Amino acid sequence: MSMNHPIRIAPSLLSANFARLEEEVRCCEHGGAEILHIDVMDGHFVPNITVGALVVEALRPITTLVLDCHLMITEPERYIEAFAEAGADWISVHVEATRHLHRTLSLIRACGSRVGVVLNPVTPLVSVFDAVEYCDFVLLMSVNPGFGGQAFIPSFFRRARELRAFLNRNRLEHIEIEVDGGVGLENAEEIVRAGASILVSGSGVFRGNPRETIPALRRAAERGLTLAL
Ligand code: DX5
Ligand code: ZN
Repeated sequence: MSMNHPIRIAPSLLSANFARLEEEVRCCEHGGAEILHIDVMDGHFVPNITVGALVVEALRPITTLVLDCHLMITEPERYIEAFAEAGADWISVHVEATRHLHRTLSLIRACGSRVGVVLNPVTPLVSVFDAVEYCDFVLLMSVNPGFGGQAFIPSFFRRARELRAFLNRNRLEHIEIEVDGGVGLENAEEIVRAGASILVSGSGVFRGNPRETIPALRRAAERGLTLAL
């Protein structure tokens, strides 16, 4: 059994101009994005430091787009409630960052947010096979987390195909695969053919005008969907 999830484009605000964040959000809305991807980094789990729940709280009243909070932080369980209260629609945590994954995923669910688990590029897929049933989506990193503008790691394709097959075999076809890192016009079609439906893009979207780069990325991604039919 397989199903085609509609393509959703999630601009990563990491590459936006933080001095003009509201304008950047408007450009993403006009470009037709469904999701805003917010990268939360603590300088500990990853080498970089970015933003916290305060920024989610500031964005919440100005947009109805899905706020997708990607927590690249050690012990994310300590901050789940704060992000949910700030208005995070989706919260994802790294399997490498939390000791009691089931408890952390259950906490996100109890707080009313959609639940995601994230894997670094070479973390074995099997490490989340028992966790996916508690999730709404799985985020497969296609770069090492920490920075925008890095090169896409091609083993993503094999990993996404294997995860998609596992989900379909286990009647978990409703669970979506999100891809994050180095996504662009040149690989979007193949990414979708491998089984992903939520495409995060930072530098690819904000390098140009999001009103144009987002529809272009969507067109490229949807070509992969047509071929999958
Ligand atoms: C990296 C972040 C990504 C980043 C992607 O740690 O998780 O969301 O913004 O940036 P690009 O699309 O430029 O690779
Ligand atoms: Zn991210």
